[in-house]
Amino acid sequence: MDIDHVAIVVRDIEATLRLYTETLGFKEAYREVVADQGVEAVGLEAGGSFVELLRPLDEGSPIARFRGDAATKLHHTAYRVDDIEAALAELKAKGVRLIDEHARKGAHGNLIAFLHPKATDGVLIELCQPTR
Ligand code: CO
Repeated sequence: MDIDHVAIVVRDIEATLRLYTETLGFKEAYREVVADQGVEAVGLEAGGSFVELLRPLDEGSPIARFRGDAATKLHHTAYRVDDIEAALAELKAKGVRLIDEHARKGAHGNLIAFLHPKATDGVLIELCQPTR
């Protein structure tokens, strides 16, 4: 599976964006609010993949609690699949614990689903099927 994006929760998205664009030379590819997940997501092009910066919309949100006192923290890696429902069914049949048994809408026109970090050695994994 190709990496679609690596998502990082940040405290000061404009400062982090300046680092990635002005200092490191990345280009902003998309920016949108994903109300469902309580975040603003900004995607930066990285070859055929993206670095996605996540800003919690509300400091009480689960994603803000996940970040905790850290200024930034890696939140998840997302792998691209052609048929997300088939991939989820296959993992479920293998006994893999899932957060989402069915896909939902994520940022950047993706259908997404999370696997449970207890089933993935502690790193949150997202499967995503681009519809863009
Ligand atoms: Co994601």
